[in-house]
Amino acid sequence: MASHFKMRPGLFRAALPLITAAFALSTALPTLAQTSKSTASDAPWWKHAVVYEIYPRSYQDSNGDGVGDLNGITQRMGYIEHLGVDAIWIAPMYPSPQVDFGYDISDYESVDPQYGTVADMEKLIAAGKEHHVRVLLDMVLNHTSDKHQWFIDAASSRNNPKHNWYVWNDGINANAPGVTAYQKRFEHEGKVPPNNWVSGFGGSAWEWVPSVHQFYYHMFYKQQPDLNWRNPEVEKACFDAMRFWLDKGVAGFRLDAIPTLFEDPQLRNNPEKGGINAQGDPNLSDEYVSNLPEVHDVIRRMRSMVEKYPGNRVLIGETYLPNTAELDKWYGGTAQNELQLPMDMLLGFHGDHDKLDVSGFRDHITEALTQTHGGQPLFVFDNHDNVRAINRYGDVDPAHAGLINKALDTVLFTLPATALTYYGEELGMVTTTPTRKEDVKDPIGITGWPKEKGRDGERTPMQWTPGPQAGFSTNPHTWLPLAPDYKTVNVEVESKEPNSQLEWFKKLTMLRRENPALHSGKLTMLDTASTSVLSYVRSTGSDSVVVAINFTAQPQTISLDVKSGKAHTLATTDPSLTSTSSTKNLTLPPYTSWVASVQ
Ligand code: NOJ
Repeated sequence: MASHFKMRPGLFRAALPLITAAFALSTALPTLAQTSKSTASDAPWWKHAVVYEIYPRSYQDSNGDGVGDLNGITQRMGYIEHLGVDAIWIAPMYPSPQVDFGYDISDYESVDPQYGTVADMEKLIAAGKEHHVRVLLDMVLNHTSDKHQWFIDAASSRNNPKHNWYVWNDGINANAPGVTAYQKRFEHEGKVPPNNWVSGFGGSAWEWVPSVHQFYYHMFYKQQPDLNWRNPEVEKACFDAMRFWLDKGVAGFRLDAIPTLFEDPQLRNNPEKGGINAQGDPNLSDEYVSNLPEVHDVIRRMRSMVEKYPGNRVLIGETYLPNTAELDKWYGGTAQNELQLPMDMLLGFHGDHDKLDVSGFRDHITEALTQTHGGQPLFVFDNHDNVRAINRYGDVDPAHAGLINKALDTVLFTLPATALTYYGEELGMVTTTPTRKEDVKDPIGITGWPKEKGRDGERTPMQWTPGPQAGFSTNPHTWLPLAPDYKTVNVEVESKEPNSQLEWFKKLTMLRRENPALHSGKLTMLDTASTSVLSYVRSTGSDSVVVAINFTAQPQTISLDVKSGKAHTLATTDPSLTSTSSTKNLTLPPYTSWVASVQ
C-alpha cells in the first residue's frame, strides 16, 4: 500500500453559524503581522501565517501526571506568541482510548480527561486570542474509535440504524476461486476478506465481527473503523462536530488522512508493487482506497459550511499526494473552492532520500507557486509522524545538523507560502528512537520491530529548561523519555544564546512579519544553474530581499545579479557575512543562510 507517512522505509506512511459572541473570531482581530505598519494587508490571516503543530501529550504537563495537557499549552501561550507563531494546530485532544494517541476518537464534542475539559479548551482559545494566536483543531473524519458509541451501535446488529455508518462486507467463501493465501490468513466462519486491501498499520484492512457475521474496513488500526462517507448521515454528524468547535471560536481544522474518506465501491484489489513491508504485508498501491474523486464533493460542501463563519476560518489538509497536479485538485483547481491549504508534502518529505538538492527544491518551489491556479502553498518539513527533518536532512557530519536545520528554517520562512512547523523544531530537537522494543509506545513500532520502530522518537517531551524533566513535567515518569540532549537543547539555554536555533527561528519569523518583501513580495529564482546554492529574490517593487542558502558542506562563492547589487544584511547564520554589502563575489560558508535587503 502506498504510504501516508513517507519517511519510514517499508511502511504505509503515506507517501499520505452561529457564533457565540464571546469566542467569535472576527476579521477585526488583527494578527501581529497586520498590526505591523509596513505589512498591513487585506489578505486572509492564514496567507502569511506561521502555523505551529503541538502534540498535546508532549508539550507541557500542568498537573504532574507525566502527560501534557491543555492547561499546559495555555500556560505557554506567551512563549508561542513570541516565537512569531500565528496559529497552533493541536493534535487530537478528544476523548479517546489512545490506541493511536488520539487519532481514535470516541467523542468528537468533548475533551479527553487526561488533557482537560471543554472549559479548559475555551480558556485556551481565549488565551490564544489575547496573545494573537489562533487555534486549529485536528479533525479525524476517515474513522472513529471502535469505542465510539456510533461504532458500538453499528456493530451490535445489522439492523441497527448506525450499522451503515461504517463500511461492512459479508466476505467471500474461503475456497472461492482466486482467494489468496494472504486472504486465507484472515478466515472466519469460512469467510475471508473480499479483497487484498491491507491496513496501513499492518494486517488485513478487514476485521471480522462475530455479532453481525461481517467484516468492517479499517485503513489504520483495527480499533479505527472507517466511516461510510456514502451515507449522508455521516457527513451531517461530522459537520455538526466541526460546527461545535467552530462555534467555540476555533480558527479551522487540520483534516487528518482526508484523501482516504472513500473506497472503491467495487472493492477492486489494489495493484501489487512487489515485496513485503515492515509489517509483513505485501506492498500495494493505494489506488482503490485513497484520493477517490468523490471526496472532492464533500470538501466543497465543507468549505461552504466553514465559510459561513466570519474570520476566515481555514481548512488544512493532510494531503500526501504524488504530484502537484493532484495537489491542485485539492484547492479546487480553477474554482479554488476546496481546501485553502492542502499540505504540500512534496518539498519537505521526499521519501527515503531526503537531501538538500538545490535543483529539486528550486523546481518544486517554482511548480508549487505556479501550478495550483493561485492556491497558497503550505510547506512543511516536520510533523508527529516522521523522523524530524534535522535528522533526515543531516549529512555524514553531525556537526552540520544544526546548520542544516537553520537552512531548512530559512527556506520555510522566506518563501511566499504559509509555513507549518512542529514543536521542538525551533530548538533543533532531534528524533530519539527507542532502542528496546519493550520501551515502544506507538503500536506500529511494536508490531513492526525492528524494521519499523514507530513514531515515539519524534514525539518526545518538549524541552523547556535544563532542569528536571526539562521543565515538561514535575513527574519523573514522563509518558515518553526525554531526549538525552535536553540539558543543552532547551528554551531557557537557547534564549540566552544569540546564535542558537531558537534565536534564528525567531529572527526569521519576525523578519517575515515586518519586512514587506518577505511578507508579500513576489519570488524570482536567481542563479538557476547553481547546484550548490539556492537563491531567490522577494520583491514588492519598492522593497527587495535576497535569500541565499548554501546547501553543501563546502564554502561556495556566488555573484547574484539583482538590482544594483548593493546589499544590507538582515540576517545570516555566519558572522563572516554580517557586514556584507554586495551581492557580488560573496562566499557562503557550509550550509550558511544569508538574507539581505538589496537596492
Ligand atoms: C495521520 C496522523 O497524522 C497519524 O498520526 C495517524 O496515525 C493517522 N493519520 C490515522 O489517523
